[in-house]
This record gives sequence, structure tokens and C-alpha cells, in this order.
Amino acid sequence: MPVGGAGWFGGGMGKIAVVTGGTSGIGKEIARGLARAGFLVGIVCRNELRAAATVEELVRDVPGARVETFLGDLSVRMDVERVAASLEERFDRLDVLVDNAGVHLLRAKVSADGYDRMIATNHLGPFLLTNRLLGLLEKGAPSRVVVMASEAHRQADRFEVERLAEPGSYGPAGSVRVYGRSKLLNILFAQELARRMEGSGVTVNAVCPGVVATGLLRDVPGTGRAGALLSRTPFMRTPAQGARMALKVALHEEFETRSGGFHSSTPGAGLLPTVGALKDRELQRAVWDCSSRLVGLPSL
Ligand SMILES: NC(=O)c1ccc[n+]([C@@H]2O[C@H](COP(=O)([O-])OP(=O)(O)OC[C@H]3O[C@@H](n4cnc5c(N)ncnc54)[C@H](OP(=O)(O)O)[C@@H]3O)[C@@H](O)[C@H]2O)c1
Repeated sequence: MPVGGAGWFGGGMGKIAVVTGGTSGIGKEIARGLARAGFLVGIVCRNELRAAATVEELVRDVPGARVETFLGDLSVRMDVERVAASLEERFDRLDVLVDNAGVHLLRAKVSADGYDRMIATNHLGPFLLTNRLLGLLEKGAPSRVVVMASEAHRQADRFEVERLAEPGSYGPAGSVRVYGRSKLLNILFAQELARRMEGSGVTVNAVCPGVVATGLLRDVPGTGRAGALLSRTPFMRTPAQGARMALKVALHEEFETRSGGFHSSTPGAGLLPTVGALKDRELQRAVWDCSSRLVGLPSL
């Protein structure tokens, strides 16, 4: 059920956006930017206290902000189904969906459904939620899906598609490889969904926010000191700066019809060669099929 909220605008709701993980870091700034742009913002998050604090903050900071929260853990399939049902009950269409929530877990954990929890949170949850919300997005067309990926996709481990969410130790290469895999899956998902939505008026793009000072890396050793050094350089961004690319893709006119891209705001990333997987349609299709099976969607 929706929690909080600030004001009811008569019969019409105006533009509606949903942002996952909008209670901290980049997601909160995306929610703030969308509220400023006049959107009614639905935040999907898992912590009731942080949800209430976020609504309070955004309503205080943004005159006329309309913010509602929908509680659920994206790593848990039943929660995602429940959140999607609440959103469908509350809204009759959707203009923007930002799949932002994500974690960088240092050690392997198993999700409630028996998958690697980082992959479940970062990929399977958004995959299922987005699929469940396609009807609302089609009703809102022209509408947009923005998937928060990362340049970290370049560090993905070699994985078998059929085992993309299999739990297991993170091994000597550590969590960075599995986090990288989750971010690669984000881009492959966005590319495949963009193709599937061609002609529907729903665009789908993945973005990278750059390196941003948030809570994401709190558990990763060395990042404290490295972060402190980096934060003295223009390389490390504030969450508000990190939100800019996602907001651009969500709001600017030029992205009303552009779809299927990966838009990185990391300085110099444009000079790096494209990772092979991003050009591999068969892989994108196989990832889609396997993810569908894992979350219980028909593989069409
Ligand atoms: N920071 C960077 O440098 C960087 C770089 C590239 C990409 N990204 C991506 O940016 C996105 C946002 O990360 P951030 O840096 O802003 O980190 P953050 O400050 O830790 O925010 C992550 C958000 O996701 C939510 N979340 C985590 N697990 C969840 C779950 N199971 N169910 C529902 N919500 C969950 C968190 O909610 P709680 O408050 O409940 O934990 C929080 O609101 C992530 O997808 C990340 O991969 C970040």
C-alpha cells in the first residue's frame, strides 16, 4: 500500500514516475529532480523509516512535491509482485520508470528465492518489476524506462547464461566481478527490452552515473580511503551530480524517441571500446529467456 504522500491534485494525477531505491544516494536525487519537474513520484523501497524520512525531506525541499512510497524488497519475488500490484492499483499509467536500486554486496548471500542476492536485487528484481509495469508504461506512452547500470559492467566475470543467478562463493576475484555481472545484465536487459518495445512509444535506455559518493561502496575494503582521495578530485561526484544523466534520459525531449542505448557520464568512458556482449543480440535474448524462467514469467 502507498505510504505518505503530499497532496492530491483533483482528478488528474499529472505525470507519474516510479523510482526504485529512491530513499538514498542517486535514487533520492532522481526522485527529487522528478518531483521538481512536477511528477507525482512513487518510490519503491524496503525500509519504512527511510521511506517516511524521504517523503518528509522531499516535501519540505520541493514546493508542491507529491511523493508516495511502496515498500518491498526487490530481491524477493513475492515482494516485487506485491509492489507491482500496488502500483497498478494506484496508478492508471506511468510516464517514467527508473530502475535505480542496487547493492554491492561484499560477500555472497542467498536470496529468499534461492538466487545470488546481489544478482536478485540488481537484475532479477528490476527485470520482473519492469515487465509487470509494461502495461502501465504503454498506457503512459510516450513513456520511458531508465535502467541504472554502470561502467563496472566492464569488470563482469565470465558467466554461463543458464547460471547467471546461481548462488556460490564470490571466489578470489571477489564481489567486483559479480557486481560487474549484475550491471552488465542491466544493460543487456535494457537493450533487449528496447527492441521488444519498438513501436510502442516506450523507450528504454541504460545509464552510468559516474563514480558517486553514496552508501553503495560502504562495505568494499579500500573504498573509504580511495573515496576520501577521490572526493578531492572532480572524478568523484555528489549524488545530485550522479543523478543528472538519469534525469536527462528521463526528461529531455531528445530521449523521447531514443531507445536501446547505454549512456555513460563517466569521463573518458566514450574512448573505451564497447564490451562485446553489448553487441551480441543472441546473448541479450538468452539472458532475457533465462531471467524470465527464474522470475516465473513466460518466455516469449
Ligand atoms: N555510487 C556509484 O558510484 C555508482 C556507480 C555506478 C552505478 N551505480 C548504481 O546506482 C544505483 C544506486 O546506487 P547508489 O550509489 O545511490 O547506492 P545507495 O546510496 O546505497 O542506494 C541504493 C538504494 O537501493 C535501495 N535498495 C538496495 N537493495 C534493495 C532491495 N533489495 N530492495 C529495494 N531497494 C533496495 C537502497 O535502499 P535501502 O536504503 O533500504 O538500503 C537505496 O535506496 C545502483 O544501481 C548502483 O549500482 C552507483
